[in-house]
Amino acid sequence: AIERHYTWEVTYQYKSLDCYKKLAIAINGLTPGPTISAVQGDTIVVDVINNLLMENVAIHWHGIRQRGTPWSDGTDGVTQCAIMPGETYSYTFVVDRPGTYMYHSHYGMQRESGLYGMINVSLPVGVSEPFNYDLDRGIILSDWYHRTAYEQSTGLSSIPFDWIGEPQSLLISGRGNYNCSGLAPSVCNSTNPQCSPSSLTVISGKTYRLRLASLTSLSSLSFQIEDHEMTVVEADGQYVEPFVTKNLFIYSGETYSVLVTANQDPSRNYWTSINVVSRKPKTPNGLAIFNYYPNHFLKLPPTNPPNANSMTANVSEAHPWHLHGHDFWVLGYGEGKFNLSRDIEKYNLVDPIMKNTVPLHPYGWTALRFQADNPGVWLFHCHIEAHLLLGMLVVFESGMEQVGNIPKANYGCGKTKDLFKP
Ligand code: C2O
Ligand code: CU
Repeated sequence: AIERHYTWEVTYQYKSLDCYKKLAIAINGLTPGPTISAVQGDTIVVDVINNLLMENVAIHWHGIRQRGTPWSDGTDGVTQCAIMPGETYSYTFVVDRPGTYMYHSHYGMQRESGLYGMINVSLPVGVSEPFNYDLDRGIILSDWYHRTAYEQSTGLSSIPFDWIGEPQSLLISGRGNYNCSGLAPSVCNSTNPQCSPSSLTVISGKTYRLRLASLTSLSSLSFQIEDHEMTVVEADGQYVEPFVTKNLFIYSGETYSVLVTANQDPSRNYWTSINVVSRKPKTPNGLAIFNYYPNHFLKLPPTNPPNANSMTANVSEAHPWHLHGHDFWVLGYGEGKFNLSRDIEKYNLVDPIMKNTVPLHPYGWTALRFQADNPGVWLFHCHIEAHLLLGMLVVFESGMEQVGNIPKANYGCGKTKDLFKP
């Protein structure tokens, strides 16, 4: 195990991720931010320099349990005071388990501005996964609004209330395609190289491990690759009993690894697509190219891009709940009002899956169980960013007397830190 040191400068920048020019947040110039690739047991040190000038920041390492380092969880107002403009804060934590994780801002609605990325933790040399693949690739799924986070959060806290509405685009690996017709090229330019489709190049016959992470601010998604089946092998950093599927529903805050073998006609390319589920879709599908080498990586597949599926009701929606600092067993779920004496019968106490994020379905319930074995203060909340902002959260305070020496930088904000003597 080694220490991996990163220095990240966080700034606002104009980005045209779906061809429409928008003020986005970048890490070292990148939106989405850089991928952290590490080996189980490594220590990660990230020095975050806040150069947003007028705005605080805090970064959460989603799925990393922060055992022994609860102060590095990055939740503004819970585990730390936000990093103020001009300040640098250093996050230090150990990636103690292999798997696919993510990071994102946990301050205001900054996730919506693109402050997020992936964390991939692989096994040490000599140890192998319980499944086989040739190559490993990460794919971030997200949704994208043209209004800024400021406009959205102002609307949400106004009377009358102004809901954020549906996103304008869905992004695959930070790229989407908004229909610019009627808009000035200075605002929306479909020839901007920033919004050419993302393309995943594969070699015929090889098996790929695709690591998927959903960082949407609102949307629940279905992910699929035209004519290819996927074998799901990992969810939220836990191995799962492998199963084959043509499409995968993925909710904000979830990660999956799927194995895909490039076993179709290699003379053409195929569509990779995401579409909105659980809400009445008003957002066009997100598209990317599954490219068979040596076809050109931007050669469009010969088939029509998949059309959005149709859902009717828009009366309730799924809320993906995420727990910090722990994983939980998903014991059961059902429709209607939860009734302990009746519903406890349905619990799976034999082989429940373990996750850190799980959807709570419309007009339904989900039963979770976790071991409170990680001293600290931990958020439990809906991963829809607007819902979190509106207060769909609780904080679990666990074994505080066992929390070690909290770094001074976590006390107070700005100059007030100097007033505290830990
Ligand atoms: Cu990914 Cu508290 O969130
Ligand atoms: Cu919600």
